[in-house]
Amino acid sequence: MADSHGDSVLVTGGTGLIGAHVARYLLDRGLKPVLFDAAPSDENIADIRQRVAVERGDVSDLGDLLEVASRHSVSRVIHLAAVLTIQAALKPTRGVAINCIGTSNIFQLSRALGMKRVVYASTAAVYAPRPYYEKLLGRHRVTEDDPPMPGDLYGSTKYVCEGLAAQEIRTGADIVGLRPVMTFGVGRLTGAVGILNQAMRDATLDGRGTVTRPWSPQTSINPMYVKDCADVFVRACLWPARFAREVYNLGTGEYYSIRQMMDLAEKSLPKGASIGFEDVTATEGAGMDVPGFNYADLDSSALRKELDWTPAYGFEAGARECIAMYKAGQS
Ligand SMILES: NC(=O)c1ccc[n+]([C@@H]2O[C@H](COP(=O)([O-])OP(=O)(O)OC[C@H]3O[C@@H](n4cnc5c(N)ncnc54)[C@H](O)[C@@H]3O)[C@@H](O)[C@H]2O)c1
Repeated sequence: MADSHGDSVLVTGGTGLIGAHVARYLLDRGLKPVLFDAAPSDENIADIRQRVAVERGDVSDLGDLLEVASRHSVSRVIHLAAVLTIQAALKPTRGVAINCIGTSNIFQLSRALGMKRVVYASTAAVYAPRPYYEKLLGRHRVTEDDPPMPGDLYGSTKYVCEGLAAQEIRTGADIVGLRPVMTFGVGRLTGAVGILNQAMRDATLDGRGTVTRPWSPQTSINPMYVKDCADVFVRACLWPARFAREVYNLGTGEYYSIRQMMDLAEKSLPKGASIGFEDVTATEGAGMDVPGFNYADLDSSALRKELDWTPAYGFEAGARECIAMYKAGQS
Protein backbone atom coordinates (compact mmCIF):
# COMPACT_ATOMS: atom_id res chain seq x y z
CA MET A 1 0.00 0.00 0.00
CA ALA A 2 2.78 2.47 0.90
CA ASP A 3 4.15 4.30 -2.10
CA SER A 4 7.05 5.58 -0.11
CA HIS A 5 9.26 2.83 1.25
CA GLY A 6 12.06 4.46 3.18
CA ASP A 7 10.32 7.82 3.48
CA SER A 8 10.43 9.69 6.77
CA VAL A 9 7.17 10.54 8.49
CA LEU A 10 7.11 13.35 11.03
CA VAL A 11 4.95 12.39 14.02
CA THR A 12 4.33 15.39 16.26
CA GLY A 13 3.51 14.42 19.83
CA GLY A 14 5.25 11.25 18.74
CA THR A 15 6.11 9.87 22.17
CA GLY A 16 2.61 10.41 23.60
CA LEU A 17 -0.06 7.77 24.07
CA ILE A 18 -1.18 7.58 20.43
CA GLY A 19 2.10 8.74 18.87
CA ALA A 20 4.21 5.91 20.32
CA HIS A 21 1.87 3.36 18.70
CA VAL A 22 1.78 5.30 15.44
CA ALA A 23 5.58 4.95 15.43
CA ARG A 24 5.32 1.15 15.76
CA TYR A 25 2.83 0.86 12.90
CA LEU A 26 5.06 3.06 10.71
CA LEU A 27 8.05 0.84 11.48
CA ASP A 28 5.94 -2.23 10.61
CA ARG A 29 5.45 -0.71 7.16
CA GLY A 30 9.12 0.01 6.61
CA LEU A 31 8.86 3.76 7.15
CA LYS A 32 11.10 5.97 9.28
CA PRO A 33 9.29 7.74 12.13
CA VAL A 34 10.68 11.08 13.26
CA LEU A 35 9.11 11.66 16.67
CA PHE A 36 8.87 15.40 17.35
CA ASP A 37 7.87 16.07 20.94
CA ALA A 38 8.22 18.93 23.42
CA ALA A 39 8.72 16.51 26.30
CA PRO A 40 9.83 13.16 24.87
CA SER A 41 8.91 10.11 26.94
CA ASP A 42 11.64 7.44 26.81
CA GLU A 43 9.37 5.02 28.62
CA ASN A 44 6.62 5.02 25.99
CA ILE A 45 9.07 4.12 23.21
CA ALA A 46 11.58 2.00 25.14
CA ASP A 47 11.16 -1.03 22.84
CA ILE A 48 11.66 0.97 19.60
CA ARG A 49 14.06 3.70 20.77
CA GLN A 50 16.93 2.47 18.58
CA ARG A 51 14.76 2.41 15.45
CA VAL A 52 13.23 5.91 15.57
CA ALA A 53 14.57 9.46 15.50
CA VAL A 54 13.47 11.55 18.47
CA GLU A 55 13.60 15.34 18.19
CA ARG A 56 12.76 17.68 21.03
CA GLY A 57 10.83 20.67 19.71
CA ASP A 58 7.72 22.78 20.02
CA VAL A 59 5.03 22.81 17.32
CA SER A 60 4.24 26.42 18.16
CA ASP A 61 7.72 27.27 16.78
CA LEU A 62 7.71 26.99 12.97
CA GLY A 63 11.51 27.27 12.90
CA ASP A 64 11.86 24.06 14.98
CA LEU A 65 9.54 22.22 12.62
CA LEU A 66 11.23 23.43 9.43
CA GLU A 67 14.69 22.54 10.69
CA VAL A 68 13.75 19.01 11.81
CA ALA A 69 11.56 18.17 8.81
CA SER A 70 14.20 19.40 6.33
CA ARG A 71 17.04 17.56 8.04
CA HIS A 72 15.11 14.26 7.95
CA SER A 73 13.69 14.77 4.42
CA VAL A 74 10.17 14.30 5.76
CA SER A 75 7.45 13.76 3.15
CA ARG A 76 4.37 13.10 5.32
CA VAL A 77 3.13 14.31 8.70
CA ILE A 78 0.95 12.78 11.37
CA HIS A 79 0.19 15.71 13.65
CA LEU A 80 -0.78 14.67 17.17
CA ALA A 81 0.93 17.23 19.44
CA ALA A 82 -1.69 19.00 21.52
CA VAL A 83 -2.77 20.07 24.96
CA LEU A 84 -5.78 17.99 26.02
CA THR A 85 -9.02 18.77 27.85
CA ILE A 86 -7.98 19.43 31.43
CA GLN A 87 -4.68 21.17 30.65
CA ALA A 88 -6.32 23.37 28.00
CA ALA A 89 -8.97 24.44 30.51
CA LEU A 90 -6.34 25.15 33.19
CA LYS A 91 -3.98 27.04 30.83
CA PRO A 92 -6.12 28.47 28.02
CA THR A 93 -3.48 30.67 26.38
CA ARG A 94 -1.08 27.76 26.16
CA GLY A 95 -3.88 25.55 24.86
CA VAL A 96 -4.67 27.95 22.03
CA ALA A 97 -0.98 28.48 21.20
CA ILE A 98 -0.13 24.80 20.96
CA ASN A 99 -3.36 23.50 19.45
CA CYS A 100 -4.21 26.32 17.02
CA ILE A 101 -0.89 28.04 16.23
CA GLY A 102 0.86 24.67 16.31
CA THR A 103 -1.55 23.23 13.72
CA SER A 104 -1.31 26.34 11.58
CA ASN A 105 2.47 25.87 11.64
CA ILE A 106 2.11 22.26 10.50
CA PHE A 107 0.11 23.42 7.48
CA GLN A 108 2.72 26.11 6.71
CA LEU A 109 5.44 23.47 6.99
CA SER A 110 3.52 21.23 4.60
CA ARG A 111 3.24 24.05 2.07
CA ALA A 112 6.90 25.07 2.42
CA LEU A 113 8.27 21.54 1.97
CA GLY A 114 5.60 20.17 -0.38
CA MET A 115 4.40 17.31 1.87
CA LYS A 116 2.53 14.45 0.23
CA ARG A 117 -0.05 14.30 3.01
CA VAL A 118 -0.81 15.64 6.48
CA VAL A 119 -3.12 13.70 8.80
CA TYR A 120 -3.97 15.68 11.92
CA ALA A 121 -5.86 14.83 15.10
CA SER A 122 -9.05 16.70 15.71
CA THR A 123 -11.33 15.19 18.36
CA ALA A 124 -14.80 13.84 19.11
CA ALA A 125 -15.01 16.82 21.48
CA VAL A 126 -15.88 19.09 18.55
CA TYR A 127 -19.39 17.70 18.99
CA ALA A 128 -21.76 18.89 21.68
CA PRO A 129 -22.67 16.60 24.53
CA ARG A 130 -25.27 13.97 23.71
CA PRO A 131 -28.42 15.82 24.96
CA TYR A 132 -27.84 18.57 22.39
CA TYR A 133 -28.22 16.15 19.46
CA GLU A 134 -31.09 14.31 21.07
CA LYS A 135 -32.97 17.61 21.18
CA LEU A 136 -31.81 18.91 17.78
CA LEU A 137 -31.89 15.72 15.72
CA GLY A 138 -33.96 13.29 17.76
CA ARG A 139 -30.94 10.94 17.98
CA HIS A 140 -27.56 10.92 19.69
CA ARG A 141 -25.48 9.19 17.00
CA VAL A 142 -23.74 11.85 14.90
CA THR A 143 -22.13 11.79 11.45
CA GLU A 144 -19.79 14.29 9.85
CA ASP A 145 -22.85 15.94 8.27
CA ASP A 146 -24.19 16.93 11.70
CA PRO A 147 -23.12 20.28 13.16
CA PRO A 148 -20.18 20.44 15.60
CA MET A 149 -20.78 22.48 18.75
CA PRO A 150 -17.74 22.18 21.08
CA GLY A 151 -18.62 22.24 24.76
CA ASP A 152 -15.17 23.17 26.06
CA LEU A 153 -12.02 25.07 25.11
CA TYR A 154 -10.16 21.95 23.99
CA GLY A 155 -12.91 21.03 21.52
CA SER A 156 -13.05 24.66 20.37
CA THR A 157 -9.32 24.75 19.61
CA LYS A 158 -9.65 21.57 17.56
CA TYR A 159 -12.60 23.00 15.67
CA VAL A 160 -10.42 25.99 14.78
CA CYS A 161 -7.84 23.50 13.45
CA GLU A 162 -10.53 22.05 11.18
CA GLY A 163 -11.18 25.55 9.85
CA LEU A 164 -7.46 26.08 9.22
CA ALA A 165 -7.32 22.75 7.37
CA ALA A 166 -10.36 23.57 5.24
CA GLN A 167 -8.65 26.73 4.05
CA GLU A 168 -5.48 24.83 3.08
CA ILE A 169 -7.42 22.05 1.36
CA ARG A 170 -9.11 24.66 -0.84
CA THR A 171 -5.66 25.57 -2.15
CA GLY A 172 -5.02 21.94 -3.13
CA ALA A 173 -3.18 20.64 -0.06
CA ASP A 174 -3.63 16.94 0.77
CA ILE A 175 -4.76 17.18 4.39
CA VAL A 176 -7.23 15.05 6.30
CA GLY A 177 -8.48 15.39 9.87
CA LEU A 178 -9.58 12.55 12.15
CA ARG A 179 -11.86 13.01 15.15
CA PRO A 180 -10.86 10.20 17.53
CA VAL A 181 -13.19 9.21 20.33
CA MET A 182 -11.81 8.72 23.87
CA THR A 183 -8.62 6.71 23.33
CA PHE A 184 -7.17 4.69 26.21
CA GLY A 185 -4.15 2.48 26.70
CA VAL A 186 -0.88 2.04 28.56
CA GLY A 187 1.23 5.16 28.12
CA ARG A 188 -0.55 7.96 29.90
CA LEU A 189 -1.68 8.33 33.52
CA THR A 190 -2.53 12.04 33.25
CA GLY A 191 -5.60 13.90 32.03
CA ALA A 192 -9.15 12.56 31.77
CA VAL A 193 -8.09 9.42 29.87
CA GLY A 194 -5.32 8.90 32.43
CA ILE A 195 -7.91 8.60 35.21
CA LEU A 196 -9.38 5.51 33.50
CA ASN A 197 -5.94 4.07 32.71
CA GLN A 198 -4.87 4.67 36.33
CA ALA A 199 -8.00 2.96 37.71
CA MET A 200 -7.25 -0.15 35.64
CA ARG A 201 -3.60 -0.07 36.67
CA ASP A 202 -4.31 0.39 40.41
CA ALA A 203 -6.90 -2.40 40.31
CA THR A 204 -4.37 -4.69 38.61
CA LEU A 205 -1.51 -3.95 40.99
CA ASP A 206 -3.28 -3.08 44.28
CA GLY A 207 -6.65 -4.82 43.94
CA ARG A 208 -8.66 -1.59 43.92
CA GLY A 209 -8.95 1.15 41.29
CA THR A 210 -10.96 4.36 41.61
CA VAL A 211 -12.52 6.51 38.90
CA THR A 212 -12.96 10.19 39.80
CA ARG A 213 -14.44 13.28 38.09
CA PRO A 214 -14.95 14.31 35.34
CA TRP A 215 -16.21 10.74 34.97
CA SER A 216 -19.22 9.30 36.70
CA PRO A 217 -20.64 5.77 36.46
CA GLN A 218 -23.44 7.03 34.18
CA THR A 219 -21.30 9.09 31.78
CA SER A 220 -21.54 7.49 28.35
CA ILE A 221 -18.81 7.64 25.75
CA ASN A 222 -17.25 5.86 22.79
CA PRO A 223 -14.02 4.18 23.94
CA MET A 224 -11.24 3.17 21.57
CA TYR A 225 -8.09 1.18 22.25
CA VAL A 226 -4.94 3.10 21.37
CA LYS A 227 -3.72 0.46 18.88
CA ASP A 228 -6.94 0.65 16.87
CA CYS A 229 -6.64 4.44 16.82
CA ALA A 230 -2.95 4.53 15.85
CA ASP A 231 -3.47 1.95 13.11
CA VAL A 232 -6.04 4.22 11.45
CA PHE A 233 -3.75 7.27 11.58
CA VAL A 234 -1.06 5.31 9.74
CA ARG A 235 -3.51 3.86 7.21
CA ALA A 236 -4.86 7.35 6.52
CA CYS A 237 -1.34 8.73 6.15
CA LEU A 238 -0.42 6.13 3.51
CA TRP A 239 -3.77 5.63 1.79
CA PRO A 240 -3.10 6.03 -1.94
CA ALA A 241 -6.26 7.95 -2.86
CA ARG A 242 -7.31 11.42 -1.77
CA PHE A 243 -10.07 11.47 0.79
CA ALA A 244 -13.62 12.37 -0.12
CA ARG A 245 -14.12 14.37 3.08
CA GLU A 246 -11.96 16.91 4.89
CA VAL A 247 -12.51 15.36 8.32
CA TYR A 248 -13.80 12.01 9.63
CA ASN A 249 -15.19 10.60 12.84
CA LEU A 250 -12.89 7.90 14.22
CA GLY A 251 -14.28 5.28 16.57
CA THR A 252 -15.19 1.62 16.75
CA GLY A 253 -18.95 2.11 17.18
CA GLU A 254 -18.90 0.88 20.80
CA TYR A 255 -20.79 3.15 23.20
CA TYR A 256 -20.77 2.41 26.93
CA SER A 257 -21.32 4.04 30.26
CA ILE A 258 -18.10 4.26 32.28
CA ARG A 259 -19.61 1.70 34.71
CA GLN A 260 -20.17 -0.73 31.83
CA MET A 261 -16.60 -0.17 30.65
CA MET A 262 -15.14 -0.82 34.08
CA ASP A 263 -17.32 -3.94 34.45
CA LEU A 264 -15.86 -5.25 31.18
CA ALA A 265 -12.33 -4.37 32.35
CA GLU A 266 -12.93 -6.15 35.66
CA LYS A 267 -13.32 -9.44 33.80
CA SER A 268 -9.56 -9.35 33.09
CA LEU A 269 -8.47 -8.20 36.57
CA PRO A 270 -6.85 -10.54 39.08
CA LYS A 271 -9.40 -12.40 41.22
CA GLY A 272 -11.00 -10.14 43.86
CA ALA A 273 -9.82 -6.88 42.25
CA SER A 274 -12.41 -4.21 41.44
CA ILE A 275 -12.89 -0.67 40.14
CA GLY A 276 -15.11 1.79 42.03
CA PHE A 277 -16.13 5.44 41.72
CA GLU A 278 -15.54 8.45 43.92
CA ASP A 279 -17.34 11.75 43.35
CA VAL A 280 -14.22 13.89 43.73
CA THR A 281 -12.11 15.87 41.27
CA ALA A 282 -8.76 14.33 40.36
CA THR A 283 -5.75 16.20 41.75
CA GLU A 284 -4.74 17.47 38.32
CA GLY A 285 -8.07 19.21 37.78
CA ALA A 286 -8.53 20.34 41.39
CA GLY A 287 -10.93 23.23 41.81
CA MET A 288 -12.53 22.97 38.41
CA ASP A 289 -15.24 21.05 36.67
CA VAL A 290 -14.64 19.96 33.11
CA PRO A 291 -17.82 20.07 31.07
CA GLY A 292 -18.58 18.20 27.88
CA PHE A 293 -17.83 14.62 28.84
CA ASN A 294 -21.26 13.16 28.16
CA TYR A 295 -20.24 12.84 24.56
CA ALA A 296 -22.31 12.28 21.48
CA ASP A 297 -22.15 8.81 19.97
CA LEU A 298 -20.00 9.02 16.83
CA ASP A 299 -20.90 7.20 13.64
CA SER A 300 -17.55 6.38 12.00
CA SER A 301 -18.90 4.39 9.08
CA ALA A 302 -17.69 6.90 6.45
CA LEU A 303 -14.04 6.40 7.38
CA ARG A 304 -14.38 2.66 7.93
CA LYS A 305 -15.81 2.30 4.44
CA GLU A 306 -13.27 4.58 2.79
CA LEU A 307 -10.26 2.89 4.43
CA ASP A 308 -11.80 -0.60 4.34
CA TRP A 309 -10.96 -0.86 8.04
CA THR A 310 -12.40 -2.80 10.97
CA PRO A 311 -11.06 -2.51 14.52
CA ALA A 312 -8.72 -5.29 15.63
CA TYR A 313 -9.39 -4.86 19.36
CA GLY A 314 -12.44 -3.02 20.63
CA PHE A 315 -12.82 -2.05 24.29
CA GLU A 316 -12.79 -5.41 26.05
CA ALA A 317 -9.76 -6.81 24.22
CA GLY A 318 -7.98 -3.47 24.63
CA ALA A 319 -8.62 -3.42 28.38
CA ARG A 320 -7.43 -7.05 28.62
CA GLU A 321 -4.17 -6.12 26.90
CA CYS A 322 -3.67 -3.05 29.12
CA ILE A 323 -4.16 -5.11 32.26
CA ALA A 324 -1.67 -7.70 31.00
CA MET A 325 0.84 -4.89 30.36
CA TYR A 326 0.31 -3.38 33.82
CA LYS A 327 0.91 -6.85 35.31
CA ALA A 328 4.15 -6.99 33.32
CA GLY A 329 5.32 -3.75 34.91
CA GLN A 330 4.53 -1.17 32.23
CA SER A 331 2.83 2.11 33.12
N1 LIG B 1 -6.38 10.18 23.83
C1 LIG B 1 -7.59 10.58 23.49
O1 LIG B 1 -8.59 10.21 24.11
C2 LIG B 1 -7.80 11.48 22.29
C3 LIG B 1 -9.11 11.61 21.79
C4 LIG B 1 -9.33 12.47 20.71
C5 LIG B 1 -8.27 13.16 20.15
N2 LIG B 1 -7.02 13.01 20.66
C6 LIG B 1 -5.95 13.78 20.03
O2 LIG B 1 -4.92 12.90 19.64
C7 LIG B 1 -3.65 13.54 19.79
C8 LIG B 1 -2.72 12.67 20.64
O3 LIG B 1 -3.33 12.44 21.89
P1 LIG B 1 -2.64 11.55 23.01
O4 LIG B 1 -3.74 10.92 23.77
O5 LIG B 1 -1.58 10.72 22.43
O6 LIG B 1 -2.01 12.70 23.90
P2 LIG B 1 -0.68 12.68 24.79
O7 LIG B 1 -0.82 13.79 25.77
O8 LIG B 1 -0.42 11.32 25.33
O9 LIG B 1 0.44 13.01 23.73
C9 LIG B 1 0.61 14.31 23.24
C10 LIG B 1 2.10 14.52 23.05
O10 LIG B 1 2.27 15.83 22.51
C11 LIG B 1 3.42 16.39 23.12
N3 LIG B 1 3.31 17.85 23.05
C12 LIG B 1 2.54 18.66 23.81
N4 LIG B 1 2.74 19.95 23.46
C13 LIG B 1 3.66 19.93 22.45
C14 LIG B 1 4.27 20.94 21.68
N5 LIG B 1 4.00 22.24 21.90
N6 LIG B 1 5.14 20.58 20.72
C15 LIG B 1 5.45 19.27 20.52
N7 LIG B 1 4.92 18.28 21.26
C16 LIG B 1 4.04 18.60 22.20
C17 LIG B 1 3.40 15.87 24.54
O11 LIG B 1 4.69 15.93 25.14
C18 LIG B 1 2.90 14.45 24.34
O12 LIG B 1 3.96 13.53 24.20
C19 LIG B 1 -3.93 14.91 20.38
O13 LIG B 1 -3.95 15.85 19.34
C20 LIG B 1 -5.31 14.77 20.98
O14 LIG B 1 -6.00 16.00 20.98
C21 LIG B 1 -6.76 12.19 21.71
